Amino acid sequence: MIKIRIHKKIDIPYRVKWLNSPNVNKYIGDELGRRTTLKKQEKWFKDYQKDKNKKFFTILFNNKPIGLVGLSNISKQNKNADLFIMIGEDSYRGRGIGKEAMKFIIGYAFNNLKLHKINLGVIEDNKVAVNLYKKLGFKIEGKMIDEIYSKGKFYNFLSMALFKKDYTA
Ligand SMILES: CC(C)(COP(=O)(O)OP(=O)(O)OC[C@H]1O[C@@H](n2cnc3c(N)ncnc32)[C@H](O)[C@@H]1OP(=O)(O)O)[C@@H](O)C(=O)NCCC(=O)NCCS
Repeated sequence: MIKIRIHKKIDIPYRVKWLNSPNVNKYIGDELGRRTTLKKQEKWFKDYQKDKNKKFFTILFNNKPIGLVGLSNISKQNKNADLFIMIGEDSYRGRGIGKEAMKFIIGYAFNNLKLHKINLGVIEDNKVAVNLYKKLGFKIEGKMIDEIYSKGKFYNFLSMALFKKDYTA
């Protein structure tokens, strides 16, 4: 059973594990494949606690933490935010959990925070993620060609967005 709760300090070691998983970090960050450390994630969490414009949640399956979903750069002025999601545990991807977590965070953004628009960035080759976002109504607003370089290959980067008026879950 899927549960979503606020992101807590006890989740820091999971953050390290997930962000260092090759199946996750091949698609995440400005520098693909880059490893993180416990120290860096402890610093991230400290900064996060002070940042009113970030709101993250931990995704649990049968009470086991398996991933994260959240919003950054929440702008009250512009009524928008940037969305982030990862199912960190390999065996829990492709089982509909990402979709459920996306529905939760979209509902939170539009209904609780009263946002007008949700933005996200995704590598074009990340077909699972792009398909999921399109299915939920996100549209491509921009495409940056050869924006990311990793292991001898350039990747295109897509800016996608969902407007409240287009979301019909
Ligand atoms: C992207 C991610 C969040 C999707 O979550 P997930 O739980 O694996 O995906 P779901 O099982 O909920 O699938 C949702 C949709 O994704 C698409 N999808 C899932 N598996 C797919 C596959 N193997 N090939 C193509 N599309 C696929 C489908 O459109 C699916 O919808 P459907 O089941 O109605 O057909 C997850 O795979 C993940 O965390 N990946 C690594 C980190 C990452 O890439 N994060 C996003 C960075 S922008």
